[in-house]
Amino acid sequence: MVFIMYVCLCHGVSDKKIKQLVLEEGLTDIKQIKKCTALGSQCGKCVKMAKEILTETGAIEYSEAS
Ligand code: FES
Repeated sequence: MVFIMYVCLCHGVSDKKIKQLVLEEGLTDIKQIKKCTALGSQCGKCVKMAKEILTETGAIEYSEAS
């Protein structure tokens, strides 16, 4: 069974979608994710968790190192 965790409920953005954008599209920071998905543009509650997922996926470190 595959579980989908929604990070942004307002726009239906899952953790899988964020990881996919990082790993397959090469997005490296929260601004790019917001632009692509509208994440955080309504209530904004999801931004903190989205940043944690970015860190987990290695995107933040990558972006800060460059
Ligand atoms: S949960 Fe993402 S903007 Fe509301």
